[in-house]
Amino acid sequence: SSAELERAESLILEIPDYPSAGILFRDITPLLADGPAFRATVDALIAPFRGTFDAIAGLEARGFLLASAAAYASGTGLMPIRKSGKLPRPAAGVGYSLEYGIAEVEAHADFPRGSRVLVIDDVLATGGTLAAAHEVLRMLDYEVAGTAVLFEIDDLGGRDAVGDPRLHTVFRS
Ligand code: PRP
Ligand code: MG
Repeated sequence: SSAELERAESLILEIPDYPSAGILFRDITPLLADGPAFRATVDALIAPFRGTFDAIAGLEARGFLLASAAAYASGTGLMPIRKSGKLPRPAAGVGYSLEYGIAEVEAHADFPRGSRVLVIDDVLATGGTLAAAHEVLRMLDYEVAGTAVLFEIDDLGGRDAVGDPRLHTVFRS
């Protein structure tokens, strides 16, 4: 319900200057700690995409927490998109820059080509992470069915950087 979601939003903490000066970190662990809030949030993440995807991809690390619950709830398989060096059979990798640093993501190709993949992460900031994830999926001949994010920071241009018309965010600043 919208009351549950409103309560869930109140459980996201704003931590100034973490992990470095000038960054306002969105801490979702109090939301994860609350069973009804966690369930309502995962339901709201996937609701617009019902029946439109064959698999869910989650971004290491915090995206994993939401994506695996979403995959279980929708009865689909899960694709972990990991920071480089963590997977033994990377089939594609893409580098990107973060609000605070640089990184690279990789994935295995465990799903049939052409699979429709819903991409899930916790926070959208500059959009670099999600754009890299989309590029990995394209390299593997998967179709991006949509993108679902728990919290959108809306003054960093992330939505434009991601460029997915089906980007869905549950909460935003
Ligand atoms: C954070 C967050 C998103 C990403 C958003 O992940 O969880 O994945 O940054 O930033 P962007 O839109 O500017 O790319 P981070 O790589 O810090 O680490 P974690 O998820 O492994 O904790
Ligand atoms: Mg992350």
